[in-house]
Amino acid sequence: MHSHIKQLLRLTRCGHAQCRTFGGKVRIDPQPFVQQASRKYASRKYASDTAYTQAFSAARDRPDTFWTEAGLNIDWFEPWTNTLCSEDPVFPGWFSGGKLNMCYNAVDRHVVSGRGDQPAIIYDSPVTGTKQIITYRELQDQVSMLAGVLVKHGVQKGDLVVIYMPMVPQAMFTMLACARIGAPHSLIFGGFASRELAVRITHAKPKLMVTASFGIEPGRRVQYIPLVEKALELSSHKPSKVLIYNRPNMERVSMSPEMSLDWDEEMARAQPHDCVPVPSSHPLYVLYTSGTTGAPKGIVRDTAGYAVMLKWTMSNIYALQPGDVWWAASDLGWVVGHSYICYAPLLHGNTTILYEGKPVGTPDPGAFFRVLSEHGASSMFTAPTAIRAIRQQDPEAAVGRKYPLSRLKTLFLAGERCDVETLEWAKKRFGVPILDHWWQTETGSPITSTCAGLGHSLTTPSGQAGKPVPGYDGKVINDDMEEVKPRTLGNIVVRLPLPPGAALSLWQNQDLFKELYFTKFTGYYDTMDAGFADEEGFIYIMSRSDDVINVAGHRLSAGALEEAILQHPVVGDCAVVALEDALKGHVPLALCVLKKGVLKNKQEIVKEIVVHVRDTIGPVAAFKKVFFVQALPKTRSGKIPRSALANLVSGKPYKITPTIEDPEVFKAIENEIEKAPLEA
Ligand code: COA
Ligand code: AMP
Repeated sequence: MHSHIKQLLRLTRCGHAQCRTFGGKVRIDPQPFVQQASRKYASRKYASDTAYTQAFSAARDRPDTFWTEAGLNIDWFEPWTNTLCSEDPVFPGWFSGGKLNMCYNAVDRHVVSGRGDQPAIIYDSPVTGTKQIITYRELQDQVSMLAGVLVKHGVQKGDLVVIYMPMVPQAMFTMLACARIGAPHSLIFGGFASRELAVRITHAKPKLMVTASFGIEPGRRVQYIPLVEKALELSSHKPSKVLIYNRPNMERVSMSPEMSLDWDEEMARAQPHDCVPVPSSHPLYVLYTSGTTGAPKGIVRDTAGYAVMLKWTMSNIYALQPGDVWWAASDLGWVVGHSYICYAPLLHGNTTILYEGKPVGTPDPGAFFRVLSEHGASSMFTAPTAIRAIRQQDPEAAVGRKYPLSRLKTLFLAGERCDVETLEWAKKRFGVPILDHWWQTETGSPITSTCAGLGHSLTTPSGQAGKPVPGYDGKVINDDMEEVKPRTLGNIVVRLPLPPGAALSLWQNQDLFKELYFTKFTGYYDTMDAGFADEEGFIYIMSRSDDVINVAGHRLSAGALEEAILQHPVVGDCAVVALEDALKGHVPLALCVLKKGVLKNKQEIVKEIVVHVRDTIGPVAAFKKVFFVQALPKTRSGKIPRSALANLVSGKPYKITPTIEDPEVFKAIENEIEKAPLEA
């Protein structure tokens, strides 16, 4: 280990010495909030709100002091000089002047501090019948060797690596190996098909790509190599090499010899590589998410702010102690996976469960209960849709009941609005507080939550997603930027600056970043979610105010789906809207207008459109529903009023704004749906 890290480690153990390294620029409070809070939680589970209120006020009124305190829980190669550089509140520049390494903080420092033999990852894969424990020391070995492989093949600090892999530990090794050498990664969810993959490769321009032989979905293998090959054909950028992890005991696959590198062969002759210090604002990853249009929106995450925030949340929101077992049942391809399968639990010295399976069918609806019980998880995180799936198949949790959940303290939900019945069912069946909290790819961690580690009562009203997390000064405002009264629906915004860990920018497009999120409401971050606050300050998230559709907790762009559907030669016009669904919350529905004179069988057309969307966007879109209409309503400027149409198709009241050219079109669609009702 570098001698300056050793020195720094000594310094971080002594708060006052650390204080001096920051040149007296910041004052450290004698009573750290983190410690206050965890003491409170440990002593009294249902303690009062005081710690939360204090932390919230401190983060709002003295953000530099507050986050300096949290920053001391991270190890630095070089201490930062300015906690908050607030010249431009859109780009707050947290911890400027500092140097650190995410992988060092997530892996190496735990080996140094004596956690080397503690499990870092428990890989539980019912789809392959595999269970594997990887200690922090083993993780360090794998990651440092893999970092050596990446460097050998020309990946340098700042070069981007695309990862397209299933839920295997090797995906986490790759993320951490990239972080180790300062190469931002962009991990793309396996449920996206070649075209979406190609769009991201073209945009991200990776130096190298890492993939695996296949993923496993119930009833089928997802062969990754043909998908990657097709994506590379479609992409205008080609990485120099593709490193392929061949899953064990199966036929080995490869690509063209000039492109293909074999994981096992490379690792067998690899040299370990040390952690490379990077500046605080160095991009750790780019994570593509859906926006209003079909254009790629790569959220860029910094290193320091993210590390500080994630570590802070583990004790203050989730009330976890280092060493506890934690499970985020999501996918590494989503922000929840990046933050809470990989980085946050490792930063906090927890054991993280990596689960390759589904809530039902792998093999039964008791799967979640088994995993929690068998591995002794203290807390978990999942999406409401997963709970709905379990409830649908096993309403009494007869299978789940076989597994005692003695260690489980809390279950957190996010990704979509949770209906009250699902929440109440989960409370009863899991026997712990079920805490809905709200966040976005952009923020990387929760914006509102019940902060279990800050003394919040865990018996909160149903339907809400908690209170603003310290650092997120959330408000509900109308279009004239006035705060609305409690229980009045409005735009949910966050006063600037955003706390550490929130998106740094959009990949190679700072202007679009500013325009999208910060221009509509000056001085605020526009979350593009609508909702309300109650009298006590609990926030209720109701819907998106843009054209994003949330399908089973996955965010999809209506624009991207429409673009794919319009490629069909007989479709003249199309609007994709969210249709309510009992399992997935919403599914996409395409309202299509056929070109004049088309005589083709409509069922045939539907089949072709569905297959085309699956091949271009991917199976994850769960796109199966098409409804033919004579015309679509449009505003005078040609926009489709998607939210009014979404209400219409779900049988809810809808509003026709004065800018609609031909309001009668709504009525006509309603009549058509009455004649041939949409299946729920
Ligand atoms: N690779 C390839 N295909 C994938 C995939 C992946 N990583 N993930 C999903 N798919 C495919 C599925 O196989 C399915 O294909 P199919 O149409 O051939 O059946 C399609 O995408 C839709 O998948 P999914 O949304 O998983 O629906 P499902 O009907 O198979 O399962 C649930 C329903 C509720 C079990 C499932 O949606 C679920 O587990 N949701 C939790 C979501 C979640 O964790 N979100 C995280 C956000 S925080
Ligand atoms: P993503 O960026 O994919 O994580 O999706 C973020 C979006 O999911 C948010 O903007 C919300 O619309 C929705 N979302 C996330 N968590 C919640 C929640 N707890 N309640 C309601 N909606 C949520």
